[in-house]
Amino acid sequence: MARSPTFVEKDRPQEAAVRAELLHGLQATPAVVSPKYLYDALGSRLFAAITELPEYYLTRTEASIFAREIDAMADELPAGLTLVDLGAGNCEKAARLLGPLRISTYVAVDISVDFLRDALERLQQHHPEVDMLGVGSDFSSRLVLPAAVGDGARLLFYPGSSIGNFTPAQALDFLRQMHPAAQGGGLLIGVDLRKPVEVLEAAYDDPLRITAAFNRNLLRHVNQLVGSDFVLADWRHRAFFNSAQSRIEMHLEALRSVTVRWPGAERAFAAGERIHTENSYKWRADDFAALLVDAGFSAIRRWTDERGWFAVFLARV
Ligand code: AVJ
Repeated sequence: MARSPTFVEKDRPQEAAVRAELLHGLQATPAVVSPKYLYDALGSRLFAAITELPEYYLTRTEASIFAREIDAMADELPAGLTLVDLGAGNCEKAARLLGPLRISTYVAVDISVDFLRDALERLQQHHPEVDMLGVGSDFSSRLVLPAAVGDGARLLFYPGSSIGNFTPAQALDFLRQMHPAAQGGGLLIGVDLRKPVEVLEAAYDDPLRITAAFNRNLLRHVNQLVGSDFVLADWRHRAFFNSAQSRIEMHLEALRSVTVRWPGAERAFAAGERIHTENSYKWRADDFAALLVDAGFSAIRRWTDERGWFAVFLARV
């Protein structure tokens, strides 16, 4: 019998809370905006374009690891798991796992359930045998899955080096939240690794300037959310590797002195002053394996590409 996906929304982000968080960051020194605000409708499309760039090796390298090692991964896992896809978006990456990993239930989680509807309905046509659930939830600060996920053994899926947006301390905290959520199963996670600085910086400051557009688009999104009057022409994209912290940092830098106003307040920025918009940590594979152990996981397996640029870890609870 043909099934159809179910959808649930968990605590939709409150407009007032979003405004308060953004305005607090804009008033801080240095100013900061969370990378989650890079992803409005246009930002999500720009990110998809980034993944097509020759310089942005992450998506393609991770896909090559899955293509080559999927059978080895399947050998490590029982059939009939519930795959919980954290940040599912277009559900493309998980789609390639359902058959090979003999998944019986697929749970797609993303910040907005509306992003999931089309993708999940399409995927259901191709996999009528898999139960599908779409969950709208901002799990980045607190991972709580709705009861509708069920009590089957779970494989949490966190690809793309999304974990790289967290500091090591935050990453440990998030992995510790994942451990009980991965009841009876485990975690399949993609992690970007340290590599020559030229390779890293080209991936985040590409010559077509798609990443610059992606970063600067955040200001349009912020204008929409808080009614501010950022002028995009006043701001340039900056991305560089901070080797002491082992992270790519993205910033928006004021090209001249500007005052940004929004209902109730304003903020002056001097020429050269920056807004920090993203960190993307680059791990040593051994350090990340140790982090997984620290978070309570065991039986850790890892697969990398031939250049050792990216790693996929499978950790059991
Ligand atoms: C989606 C967080 C993994 O850090 O590489 C791409 C986002 N930022 N180019 C990354 C991103 C700039 C991406 N993550």
